[in-house]
Amino acid sequence: MDSGKVTVIGAAGHVGLAMSLVLTHAGYKVNGVDLNTEYNQLIMSGVMPFQENGAPELLAEAMDTGRLTMTGGLDDVPSSRYVVIMVGSPTDQHLNPVLDNLYRLIESLASRLLPGHIVILRSTVTPGTTGRVRNKLETLTGLTEGRDFHLVYAPERVVQGRAIEETAVLPQLIGAFDENSYHLTSSFFKTFSSGENIMLTPVEAELGKLITNMTRYVSFALANEFYLIGNLYDANINRIIDACNYDYPRLNLPTPGPNVGGPCLYKDGWFLVERIPFQELISTAFHINESMPMQIVQQLEKFDGICRVAILGMTFKADSDDIRNSLSFKLLHQLERLGYECITVEPHLKNYAPLSDLKGCDAVVLMTPHREFKNLPAITEAVDNENCVYVDIWGFWDEMRYRSANGIFRSGPREGEPGCVF
Ligand SMILES: NC(=O)c1ccc[n+]([C@@H]2O[C@H](COP(=O)([O-])OP(=O)(O)OC[C@H]3O[C@@H](n4cnc5c(N)ncnc54)[C@H](O)[C@@H]3O)[C@@H](O)[C@H]2O)c1
Repeated sequence: MDSGKVTVIGAAGHVGLAMSLVLTHAGYKVNGVDLNTEYNQLIMSGVMPFQENGAPELLAEAMDTGRLTMTGGLDDVPSSRYVVIMVGSPTDQHLNPVLDNLYRLIESLASRLLPGHIVILRSTVTPGTTGRVRNKLETLTGLTEGRDFHLVYAPERVVQGRAIEETAVLPQLIGAFDENSYHLTSSFFKTFSSGENIMLTPVEAELGKLITNMTRYVSFALANEFYLIGNLYDANINRIIDACNYDYPRLNLPTPGPNVGGPCLYKDGWFLVERIPFQELISTAFHINESMPMQIVQQLEKFDGICRVAILGMTFKADSDDIRNSLSFKLLHQLERLGYECITVEPHLKNYAPLSDLKGCDAVVLMTPHREFKNLPAITEAVDNENCVYVDIWGFWDEMRYRSANGIFRSGPREGEPGCVF
């Protein structure tokens, strides 16, 4: 067993690949395991399958040093001292957490598990999962956690796009069953991260991860609810939020946004609430955030003459190429169902319309505040329609941010309608 070797399972994924590259950069040999053979091949040819800041350089370095290999199987597990599990953990169509894939993986892992192995579960999981993983591994192998092998839950908390940078500095929550497993894992993290390590129990670390994400999700829903309230009074919510936050030590409200989704925030709440009877806050946050596209549709329906609508941004977050659980698609389907003609603009992906296709649009909805969309005068010039309605709930376009119509404007004023000339 090689202490300089790490098996990363889920290594072609958004966070697994970033982690693998940080590890190769730190000098480890990484045995990357992933079922996605297309991505495995791309990675081994030195091509990143998705955007991640700093990753192309580290991938080139890993190819030069030969420290990264990608494979579909677990054959190299016995020779790696560390096994890091970063596979996806989605919800199903009923919003139930789906972890059977993880448990099947644990069964395959068990047949390769040896005394001395340090297994680090890093996928987001429901509370209690690490305990069930330990029981499974112990039953299937006859080995004992803490004595023969080590298992911890150390959740991934980086943000996509800055995963490389953050892996090297963020504090790690290490949920361990015993001190020895904690210290061994802590020593491993210290070889590539300056972040502090904090010992928790596994279930505390599982809850810590979910609470971290849900705090953000609920605060975004609160900002969105304030946006809806502001609309009732024709009061500009961004001006209010900015003023209230300004130089005030007890408030840090985010701005409202129509695209609060993505692969993590969309589903993590359902991992948290599956057993509790008082889940209103989190499920209400879900309803508010998920209803924002329909709020936009209803605003557009108030204007006459809108046929052709452009959606700017199809990814769930700015300056990214990740469309998973992006509410842009929800908006697109709602608009199409109502008979609007839609064009979708996404500069970070192929096969979407270019900005030049905006000509003649009756409405332009900013769903993802990519930096490519920052220049509103250039967009209005491309649209070339003085009656076009612009929607920017983010407050991203400076020209609209503090106007009282709360991010919804018609470029030519209409009697009795919200809107103004900018
Ligand atoms: N994306 C993020 O920003 C982020 C941040 C923090 C935590 N997480 C969590 O990390 C985990 C991974 O998220 P992601 O966004 O990287 O997902 P992803 O879908 O991009 O990557 C998961 C990878 O796991 C692979 N995989 C699935 N089952 C496998 C198996 N049995 N064997 C080998 N490979 C397998 C998939 O092919 C995929 O490449 C999830 O639990 C997620 O909630 C994600």
